[in-house]
This record gives sequence, structure tokens and C-alpha cells, in this order.
Amino acid sequence: MLVIKKIVVCGAGTMGSGIAQIIAQHGFKTVLFDLNEEVLNKSSLLIKSSLQALVLKNKITKDEEQQTIDNIQYTSNINNCTAHLIIEAIVENKEAKLNLFKQLEQINNTETIIASNTSSISINQLAAEMQRPQMFAGMHFFNPATIMKLVEVIKATTTNNNVIKQLCLLSTALGKTAVICNDAPGFIVNRVARHYYLEAMRLIELNLATIENVDTIMQASGFKMGPFKLMDLIGMDINYNVSNIVWNDLGKPERLKPSIIQQQKVEAKELGKKTRKGFYNY
Ligand SMILES: NC(=O)c1ccc[n+]([C@@H]2O[C@H](COP(=O)([O-])OP(=O)(O)OC[C@H]3O[C@@H](n4cnc5c(N)ncnc54)[C@H](O)[C@@H]3O)[C@@H](O)[C@H]2O)c1
Repeated sequence: MLVIKKIVVCGAGTMGSGIAQIIAQHGFKTVLFDLNEEVLNKSSLLIKSSLQALVLKNKITKDEEQQTIDNIQYTSNINNCTAHLIIEAIVENKEAKLNLFKQLEQINNTETIIASNTSSISINQLAAEMQRPQMFAGMHFFNPATIMKLVEVIKATTTNNNVIKQLCLLSTALGKTAVICNDAPGFIVNRVARHYYLEAMRLIELNLATIENVDTIMQASGFKMGPFKLMDLIGMDINYNVSNIVWNDLGKPERLKPSIIQQQKVEAKELGKKTRKGFYNY
């Protein structure tokens, strides 16, 4: 039985906003926490416009739209972050995440589950630094979280089985498909997909194709999105971090070496859709 009723989502960026929306749409009381008030305002506008679009497409009713809005509390005060489950979706930085977990463990009780949406940081390494590692796991949503069905539920060696069960039950309640993974660099999807991005960038580095050509061809061959469009959606900073972590954790194999193009894009702050410029302009 699903015992999770109240959920806190930490980080109101690309992923946190989508995760909070889908959770609230399914009737859960949701707190969306971010340090940055401006980000919270932007997130609230984004969620409202996304819900309006769903009403226009007859996917949800006006009542459901209002209920979802009422289910979300936006806050920059960490003291509001108490719940049955906390889903962390802040910056992809181990120290920042651990610092947040420390505060969350202090204000929550021993039954609270903490799950990280990290794309690449080792769940075992994070668990090792926690006060209650048995209550910690990975819960990896995909972008856009409101649409993508897959959730990787990542078990650390210390995670209590009941925590994994609860995260799988919640995923099902959200209309998602949960796949339980062991902790390994990039888990499953990000490990396999690394080549999709890296090989595409190698083609550009070697002047063998254009960005538009690669995207058009990959899409025509059956992929939903070309690698460059997908990187713009994910965010170059996130994707570059994941590339580095997977590369380092696997012992720096040449085949997984991050591309100079990723580094240049991050340095130029051309992060993709979220900065309105990446490989394409938005
Ligand atoms: N972007 C993707 O496609 C994607 C997909 C799956 C998982 N992820 C993972 O999700 C997490 C978030 O990624 P994103 O793309 O949403 O990032 P983002 O940059 O869009 O948002 C991160 C947010 O975290 C906030 N933040 C930073 N430190 C904080 C703190 N201490 N407390 C509260 N808020 C804080 C920032 O203000 C920002 O709004 C990362 O771990 C990333 O690896 C990303």
C-alpha cells in the first residue's frame, strides 16, 4: 500500500517543476522548494501555462487544473520541507546535494524517504554520507517529467526494500513505469545514451556533418529527437556534468571522453532552451 501522501520537491528548475506538476496533478499535496524566489515565480507561471494547455486539449478539466494549482505550495523556506517523501532535483553537484540532505534529515522524521533525481552521481556515495541511508534511494525522472513514462528507481546497497516498493508504487500512481536499477555510473539510460550525444558531437568536431543534418537524419531514422535538440532540452550544464561523472567513474575510457563542444557551450552560458540559446536559438 502506498503510504506517501505529502511530497516535497527540492529545486524548481527544469526537472523539479515538471516533477511537482505531475505529482500535484495526481492529487498529492506538493511543496516545491527553491532557494531562488525568481525561479519559483517562473516555475509557477510555467506550471500554470502547461495546465492551461492541457485544458485546451481536453486532457484535464478546469476543476482538475484548479485542484493541481491548489495542491502546490511554493516556498524558499527549508522549514516547509517536511513530508513523507522528498524528491531532490537541485543542481548536479554532490556537495550541494549532501548539504541539502543534511538539513532535510534534521527537520524530518525517521520515516521520511529522501530520493535523488540525480542523473549521474553515485547513489551509494550519497547514501554513505547520510544519517539514515536506509531511507535514501535514487528516483530518476526523464525530461519532460510531465510526459516521459520511465522512472529509474535506484537502490543503494543500504536502501530498505520497503523504500524501493514505495517509490515503485508512487511511480505507478503517477502513471509512470518504474524500473529498478542497481547503482552504476549513468545507471542504465544515461550510460547507453552517452554515445548518442558524444558521437554526434564528434561528427561536428571533425566537420563531417552539420548539427541540423545529424538531427534530421537521426529523427528520420526513428529517434523522437535528434541529439542536439535533445541536449538543448536537457541543458548543456547538466549534460556536460553527466558526461564528466560517467567518464570519471568508469576510469576515463577514450570512447566516453566529454566533448570540447560541451565545455565551450557551458563556458559561453549557451545552455539550451533554458537560456534561449544552445545549439539552436529559442
Ligand atoms: N535536465 C534534465 O534533462 C535532467 C533529467 C533527469 C535528471 N536531471 C537531474 O535533475 C537535477 C536538476 O536538474 P535540472 O535540469 O532541473 O536543473 P536546473 O538547473 O534547471 O534547476 C536546478 C534548480 O535547483 C535550484 N537549487 C540549487 N541549489 C539549491 C538548493 N540548495 N536548494 C534548493 N534549490 C536549489 C536552482 O535554483 C535551480 O532552480 C540534476 O540532478 C540533474 O542531473 C536532469
